[in-house]
Amino acid sequence: MNSIKAMAPATVANVSCGFDIFGFAVESPCDEVILTLRDEPGVVITSITGDGGRLPTDANRNTAGVAVQEYLKATGYNQGIAIELNKHLPLGSGMGSSAASSVAALVAVNHLMGNPLKRDELLPFAMEAERVACGSAHADNVAPSLLGGFVLIRSYEPLDVTRIPTPDDLYCTLIHPQLELKTEDSRNVLKASVPLRDAVRQWGNIAGLVVGLMKPDYGLIGRSLQDYIAEPLRSVLIPGFDRIKETAVQAGALGAGISGSGPTIFALSVSAATAKKVGEAIRDEFEGFRVESEVYVSRINAMGATVESVEQKENIV
Ligand code: HSE
Repeated sequence: MNSIKAMAPATVANVSCGFDIFGFAVESPCDEVILTLRDEPGVVITSITGDGGRLPTDANRNTAGVAVQEYLKATGYNQGIAIELNKHLPLGSGMGSSAASSVAALVAVNHLMGNPLKRDELLPFAMEAERVACGSAHADNVAPSLLGGFVLIRSYEPLDVTRIPTPDDLYCTLIHPQLELKTEDSRNVLKASVPLRDAVRQWGNIAGLVVGLMKPDYGLIGRSLQDYIAEPLRSVLIPGFDRIKETAVQAGALGAGISGSGPTIFALSVSAATAKKVGEAIRDEFEGFRVESEVYVSRINAMGATVESVEQKENIV
């Protein structure tokens, strides 16, 4: 096999109370990459679609290219690779766009090499790509995109990542307003220290969220979706945020918050019908601020990134 296609899903990082340590994957949208072996060494990006011409085609600056190069460096394979990247995730949305591209590229290159590394061993390469994308090697998008489901990053040093069981009937609504926020900018508004009172409330919530998912206890999940650390500072960047959260709960959501670094809003509900209603209600709220938005309703993605073979191609030079 000399060519492989892989898909990696959008993700919701933080999940309100778990700044940088919690995230989950959704079923769609997904980024797609096609990797092909080439005779010349080195990693090249041969085409990118769906980005409006905005992503770098330099493999040293593109997350898919960086991740594959890190993989090859660590594993010692001196293999030339060509990358085609088909973006389906909006850029600067808070839906883990850079992570989906690097994760898809990593599962594809690992597959092409005969899967010498396990899924979780690919994480450090995807994290390095995140560092290139936004200056911070956080794992709360790349880990769920790679592994699927809800993922807890208990520790970064050493890296200790664990999956949390996902209740079957949980649905996610993503409402992406046509605004763009760079993760780097959204991180720059945060403070370096947190008052003890807020820290106490925050770790109560993250523990509550984990227990709520494991039992499952939907009331506990809903009560735990509160963020005292990042959301108060970031929400000012999203028009009507406080009202949007209230609207989501009134429409039946367990809770809602900023997806990753925003501006996308996520909400969790216990049925597809409720999740759809929540999406419509929030879209109406954004319309009140003359902001168009796109709504995605999806189950939680338990699988993470997937690979599928493509028509065999000759090695390209
Ligand atoms: N945890 C990261 C942040 C996720 O909130 O900055 C970025 O998508």
